Amino acid sequence: MTSASSDLYRLGVFASGGGSNLHAILTRCQSGEIPAVVSVVISNNSGSGAFEHARAFDVPTVHLSGRTHPDPEALDYAIEGVLSEHCVDLVVLAGYMKKLGTQTLQAYSGRIINIHPALLPAFGGKGMYGAHVHEAVIRSGARESGVTVHFVNEEYDSGPIVAQETVPVRADDTPATLAERVLQLEHTFYPAVIKQFATGQVDVQDGTVRLHRQPS
Ligand code: GRF
Repeated sequence: MTSASSDLYRLGVFASGGGSNLHAILTRCQSGEIPAVVSVVISNNSGSGAFEHARAFDVPTVHLSGRTHPDPEALDYAIEGVLSEHCVDLVVLAGYMKKLGTQTLQAYSGRIINIHPALLPAFGGKGMYGAHVHEAVIRSGARESGVTVHFVNEEYDSGPIVAQETVPVRADDTPATLAERVLQLEHTFYPAVIKQFATGQVDVQDGTVRLHRQPS
């Protein structure tokens, strides 16, 4: 990492799995499209694809989980400590399968976002992750699905919505084809929303989010 990057807006990304969203964010930070730097990647899964992506971009990785910290409170403090050590401005959850603890939520209140692969408040909440989301969308007969970026609070998928974008649900869609269409959108939409944060385009007043410009 160059010394010039230390002045940039700093992202702390959490990911548990493949990390394709992380990869999209890293690519756009590197190209300068997002004026930010990923300063640390945290995962509960030391074998995650996300860690491989982070290493390929020379970004520090930190494995923190119930294995490294069996006491949930100690884990929470360790997570908050790593974010603070890396001077993180915005916490970005990108396929992170764990809940954050109270200490971290309070310390970064209004500065933690998540991406969900459907149009919240529909198809969210406990158990609504991965293929379950797309199966439920197709089962419901909905003609549209999409992605939602929202702030993170104590409950799954229930913080204030920052931005949403839709994709069509086609008559012949399977959960897999719909998942792929949604994921492709995530790879452009999440970086675009993060850019809004990095450039000071997001205001939150009384729990209502106002974007100065729509993500593009
Ligand atoms: C994405 O579908 C995202 O919406 C959800 O988890 C998935 C992560 O995918 N929160 P990847 O690990 O970024 O490929």
